[in-house]
Amino acid sequence: MCGIVGILGKDDVADRLLDGLKRLEYRGYDSAGIATVVDGAIERRRASGKLVNLGKVLAAEPLAGVTGIAHTRWATHGGPTTNNAHPHATDRVALVHNGIIENFKPLREELLARGRKLESQTDTEIVCHLVSEQIEAGLDPVEAVKVVLPRLHGAFALAILFRDHPDMLIGARLGSPLVVGYGDGETYLGSDALALAPLTQRISYLDEGDWVVLTRGGTQVYDQANNPVERAIVNSGASGQLIDKGNHRHFMAKEIYEQPIVVAQTLRAYLQRLEDKVTLPIPDFDLSVIKRVTIVACGTSYYAGMVAKYWFEQFARVAVDIDVASEFRYRAPVMEDGGLMIVISQSGETADTLAALRHAKAEGQTIAAVVNVPTSTMAREADLLLPTHAGPEIGVASTKAFTCQLAVLAALAANLAKAKGRMTPEEEKAIVAHLAEVPAALNDALGRDEAIEAMAGAVAVARDVLYLGRGTDYPLALEGALKLKEISYIHAEGYAAGEMKHGPIALIDEHVPVIVIAPSGPLFEKTVSNMQEVQARGGKVVLISDAEGIAAAGEGCIATIEMPKAHPLIAPIVYAVPVQLLAYHVAVAKGTDVDQPRNLAKSVTVE
Ligand code: F6R
Repeated sequence: MCGIVGILGKDDVADRLLDGLKRLEYRGYDSAGIATVVDGAIERRRASGKLVNLGKVLAAEPLAGVTGIAHTRWATHGGPTTNNAHPHATDRVALVHNGIIENFKPLREELLARGRKLESQTDTEIVCHLVSEQIEAGLDPVEAVKVVLPRLHGAFALAILFRDHPDMLIGARLGSPLVVGYGDGETYLGSDALALAPLTQRISYLDEGDWVVLTRGGTQVYDQANNPVERAIVNSGASGQLIDKGNHRHFMAKEIYEQPIVVAQTLRAYLQRLEDKVTLPIPDFDLSVIKRVTIVACGTSYYAGMVAKYWFEQFARVAVDIDVASEFRYRAPVMEDGGLMIVISQSGETADTLAALRHAKAEGQTIAAVVNVPTSTMAREADLLLPTHAGPEIGVASTKAFTCQLAVLAALAANLAKAKGRMTPEEEKAIVAHLAEVPAALNDALGRDEAIEAMAGAVAVARDVLYLGRGTDYPLALEGALKLKEISYIHAEGYAAGEMKHGPIALIDEHVPVIVIAPSGPLFEKTVSNMQEVQARGGKVVLISDAEGIAAAGEGCIATIEMPKAHPLIAPIVYAVPVQLLAYHVAVAKGTDVDQPRNLAKSVTVE
């Protein structure tokens, strides 16, 4: 996690560094800091908490300097204090870091044994001292960095500033992303192209193990074996505009409301309405050879994958394994030759998912990436790119990316079914018609906003909340619980409705609201039986269903949320809206920081 910016500039850089950090705050907001070289000394400004605090520090004590580095932090080693905030510095070197130095303990002990004074609990400060030691021993910065990099295990993107070389910055990456930007007489380092978008669109992406020296005379990239290499400069296409909240109080609300439009936008890339066809933007890939599918993702993206598993198995009769990415690599997964791995990620940078992608690629799997950020590492490393067109998602809780992922995965399921000879043209036509209904159904679902807001108070007072669903509503129950806990800090769990009686029903009492997601359809009666078992034990049920479902089972519930009637294929997309809105209104009622909830970051770039 963490975001990095570096500028080797013509004019003072502090304001532009701060602006770059604003674009990276999605990577963490525990603390932030900037360092520059001013009159032959390294100067720093740092603040704990959100970026706004650093802004205040800089306003009180402005920072000059035309060369600088900056950082926004998601704490790994050491609490979110000012002292642990980056840049870390000795009198000669300042450094910012994204990632984790896994061998930091022996390195730290080594430094302490040599009498170095360390000021923080971070792994980053170790690197700063290691480089400093080499410079004190007489090496120039390039040689010093060359000596230190092979000593670091783990993942890192680094930007390093040198007191005695104010016209130089050195960057390095292994496992964490870093890009170089080329401006007019200036060069930049950034965690992503978005951070640099207002400064330049001319970007080169560093490869694994690359390191780069920026000077006034030019930029030189080296590979991990220290060979000088060229990395292509491409046009990033990243927008320099800062996204605003429009008329909404929070980004999350704006993004929930954008869903009819962005899902329609996404579907446009996959549906050929005039021909009644579902297609994929990978025309040359033959899906009929796929024998087995492995889906890997984290968090909300993982739940989208769980829904897709039902679809792939039901429509294409292709066996699907699904794993959370952080578990995948470490359980020695068996992958059949000719298998397809699907990674799903909003950011395209999630470290666990990326590691799984690389692992599966090395094992000969074809990799398809369902990704929202087209410039991301996953988008670049996958064999097949299946973009979602949700636009930038700023709220930490994922909403519109989820429904767009489902839209893409439904299109993929239909294509897999066609390729396997399991879908007739008539069935395909029906699927096109159902998917085409989604934007309007999402709009309809948003019409329940006020009703959901009105009942949010009843959930906001709870200490624990359960979510139940069956079939594709089970992943939605998990997603509802995740949304609630991450933004309202209420403990919530999602269960397969039929699992309740195997243990969790012991949790039921009159203080635990139970949110039941049950559109009318083939599984409705079974879910309702489980719901009644809960009610029989004093459980307070909120039923989310359509008019038919509510007429059949709404009695005795503390509240009902009436949804539009949705075909079972599209129900998981449409029913995402009420669970998102419920979490949102509960969080607002509790007064939490909806868009930047505590302890979280939007893009999780550490394992
Ligand atoms: C939950 C949430 C996270 C992400 C997860 C994966 O609201 O946002 O659970 O879904 O960190 O992130 P991506 O999709 O960027 O790989």
